[in-house]
Amino acid sequence: MKKIIFVCLGNICRSPLAEGIAREIAQKNNLNIKVDSAGTGDYHIGDAPCPNSIKVAKLNNIDISNLKSRQVNNNDFKEFDLIIALDEKNRIDLLRMGAINVKKLGEFGRNGECVPDPYFFNGFEGFEVVFEMIRECTENLLIEII
Ligand code: 4NP
Repeated sequence: MKKIIFVCLGNICRSPLAEGIAREIAQKNNLNIKVDSAGTGDYHIGDAPCPNSIKVAKLNNIDISNLKSRQVNNNDFKEFDLIIALDEKNRIDLLRMGAINVKKLGEFGRNGECVPDPYFFNGFEGFEVVFEMIRECTENLLIEII
């Protein structure tokens, strides 16, 4: 079974969306994969995803409201086959922390683009943009690895 973990900074906006989207695609297509998410930072450990991420997921029939933020750790680097960073800083931080099998989500269909952090955008629109980017790249990623 392939194991994939999505990693952003806070694990409350982008990577929980990627986790929810990947799990939804896997369920619909009977893919035998394990999906998780985490943050490089410790700012939000134990917190639920941010309200706008919960909202944009719900509008797309995905429930991420029960997820809880956690920080990525050395055990993840051993356990997961693929570590997917949401942006370039996440990728570099992960490499510094000792992860080896790191790729950027934007490599799967967006020319390596970073998924911007919607936490620092104004309003809901940024979350819709980010949702679509994550959905498209996550779909491509799952097609590629299965
Ligand atoms: P995320 O967004 O990395 O997409 O979860 C962030 C949320 C909160 C913070 C940083 C990024 N923060 O510094 O509190």
